Amino acid sequence: MLTLFSFVITTIVVVTKVESLDNGLALTPPMGWMTWQRFRCITDCEQYPLECISEKLIKTMAKRMVVDGYLKAGYEYIIVDDCWMSNKRDSENRLQPDPIRFPSGIKSLANYVQSLGLKFGIYEDSGYKTCAGYPGIYGHLEIDAQTFADWEVDYIKLDGCYNDPETLVDGYIRFGELLNQTGRPIVYSCSWPAYEEPLGIKSNYSLLTEKCNLWRNWDDIEDSWYNVTNILDWFSENQDRIAKYSGPGHWNDPDMLLVGNFALSEDQSKAQMAIWSIMAAPLLMSVDLRTIKPEFRQILLNPDAIAINQDKLGIMGKLVYTALKRIDVWAKPIMPIVNGEFSLAIGFISNRIDGYPRIASVPMKTLGLNNPKGYHITNIFDPEYVDVISGGNIVVRVKPSGTVFLKLIPKD
Ligand code: GLA
Repeated sequence: MLTLFSFVITTIVVVTKVESLDNGLALTPPMGWMTWQRFRCITDCEQYPLECISEKLIKTMAKRMVVDGYLKAGYEYIIVDDCWMSNKRDSENRLQPDPIRFPSGIKSLANYVQSLGLKFGIYEDSGYKTCAGYPGIYGHLEIDAQTFADWEVDYIKLDGCYNDPETLVDGYIRFGELLNQTGRPIVYSCSWPAYEEPLGIKSNYSLLTEKCNLWRNWDDIEDSWYNVTNILDWFSENQDRIAKYSGPGHWNDPDMLLVGNFALSEDQSKAQMAIWSIMAAPLLMSVDLRTIKPEFRQILLNPDAIAINQDKLGIMGKLVYTALKRIDVWAKPIMPIVNGEFSLAIGFISNRIDGYPRIASVPMKTLGLNNPKGYHITNIFDPEYVDVISGGNIVVRVKPSGTVFLKLIPKD
């Protein structure tokens, strides 16, 4: 396993070499709220009046984002995923929203959201249909790029269903160019690795950093802890290949946060928040903000977790050690740098299910922690317990499928 020191050096060298999409956006991982995980493709507003994908839902969530402090904490984008469209283009071949669910049109919705201080994102697909079967952009790239700019969209998630594998990547590149040509700054979220990697094709990540602000690498997240750990397994197995491509303007995306929904316990939610922050993942909530319980809201709003995720260095943390069989230790170098040493965010995540909170110990040397003067320590989800250094090791107790999330700043 790489020592943390070589991990930092490799990351910095590569990050300075690659060029990023020249739109000046997403200099830190995008934060926001997205419909898909919680509200999927609910289009039946009679059966599900409060949950169907509609301008009413988006406006309600936008208000909650402002009133409940999410915007202030950094969650800036509100993104309508699939199923906003009508089944047919209009008479001039332009995309149009479902007229019943979006009676005011997308521009008016975008402007409403923007009037609250948020930014507006939308979903499309580079193939001839979206994954849920609505019109894709294939064959209509020019007009669609212009339509999104005319609607004053700030963020596009471009999916990859119903595509010709031969033209998949070229289509993404072309659409990105067309978006740039509109002159409107639009965050560009690509999905082509999620359509290559599962087939065993290793995506071209240096091309991704040039063409996209973020990209989904792998499977869809679903409301289960099993699904979270599967995603983490893929990211840790592939980290030495992909982590170096995350950085200001271009991010690997392990998919949405499940926090506050039905499946994850409070500790599992903390674990997802911790590791997503360490991975410099986009923080995209997908939860009903009207009914989220306060303990889950606190996890999403945790200022230390968010600051680690949004750290200006933009280094994607990695799995650096496995303690006591299946308690994984993830680490991310962050600011400030004190006497040449990075501060460090450390996330323990237990893959154990055997009852009691286990002691896990990791040698400080393994984490590159060598400061003779010691560290200022923050225990992010358990502020009372900061006494975690013992005999040259970091020693903590980690609950089954829980986390301990620490920040260490070298003492001057
Ligand atoms: C794919 C994406 C999901 C979501 C759906 C919408 O599965 O990976 O994130 O956008 O399509 O149909």
